Amino acid sequence: MRLITLDRCESGIKLGQSIYNQNGQILLAKGTELTDGLIERLIKFNISTVYIEDEASEGIEIIESIPAELRTEAVNVITEGLTTIAGLQKNNANIEGMMKTGRAIRSFQKIFKDILSCLTDNPTALNLLATTKAHDNYVYTHSLNVSIYACQLALENGLPLKNIEELGLGAMLHDVGKMYISPEILHKPGNLTAEEYKHVKTHTELGFDILRKVHEIPLPVSHCALQHHERNDGSGYPRGLKGNEIHNYAKILSVADVFDASTSHRVYRPAMLPHKGIELLYAGSGTKFESKQVELFKNCIAIYPQGLTVRLNDGRTGIVSKYNFNAVGRPEIRIIRNEDDQEVKPYEIDLSANENLTVEIVDADALLY
Ligand SMILES: [Fe+2]
Repeated sequence: MRLITLDRCESGIKLGQSIYNQNGQILLAKGTELTDGLIERLIKFNISTVYIEDEASEGIEIIESIPAELRTEAVNVITEGLTTIAGLQKNNANIEGMMKTGRAIRSFQKIFKDILSCLTDNPTALNLLATTKAHDNYVYTHSLNVSIYACQLALENGLPLKNIEELGLGAMLHDVGKMYISPEILHKPGNLTAEEYKHVKTHTELGFDILRKVHEIPLPVSHCALQHHERNDGSGYPRGLKGNEIHNYAKILSVADVFDASTSHRVYRPAMLPHKGIELLYAGSGTKFESKQVELFKNCIAIYPQGLTVRLNDGRTGIVSKYNFNAVGRPEIRIIRNEDDQEVKPYEIDLSANENLTVEIVDADALLY
């Protein structure tokens, strides 16, 4: 199986992985042969990359850290929970609303425990979470992805279980304030006006105000909503907090949040590949983000996801075939073209055992067509 961008898909290509919509329903099942009509439909759903099966990539399996069924269930829990909690404000927190909220919080806690046990049972670098999903309801999938990335990062930090669970809840709820921002602004293609941006920024305080009134929610969880846009050097919002004035949960969340946002396809820009998302974090390491968190996060994700086509510094082209757990930036590569760009019988090389070899061009399938 390998990953290619949709604009390079031709009819007749076989899907290597099912494609789901935001509600977890299958849009196209694994094994489907793509037609021009289906490709057009996927473009309409804003899907930018797909996994395909072909001869060159035969036997390359993509490890999914969180099974699709659990992701679907989690997105549903988050959708329902955020809607309930956001409704609380409007309904002025009546008893029924509070009870519903209590149930929503318990569902969040339960689903997060399932996510946590998936991550602890199968320790692996997280494969890109944002690739094959349609994204009409960005806030819900984003909240799930951030909770998965934050959970992995919290495990790398060695946080105690109680703190990981609190952070997980905070991650699922961090953008609840966006439920009060008009969708026209949230999904506006193109730049926001200064006024609109000011309005979007209020989601941190709006979220905090609603969460702190719910007695089942510990205060540090509410602070995840308030502080996740604060930056280490004081350049963030809403308060411009610096360094240790920022809660540790928010420091972890900001890294997870920025990584998922940059590697997700948005109406105003296409998704970045993970190595670019990591570059973005490194650009802010020690200034916007705590450098320790950026370093630890690098170990959490597959910088070059399996199935990605890459060109090496010696000119050979191959497909990322396997992670190296101890060197996530140096995976195994299945070479399919030699230095002269001629097709060869595929063979594997291990970058972690060949220090002179580096990935030079990522997403090199552009070069193959
Ligand atoms: Fe946010």
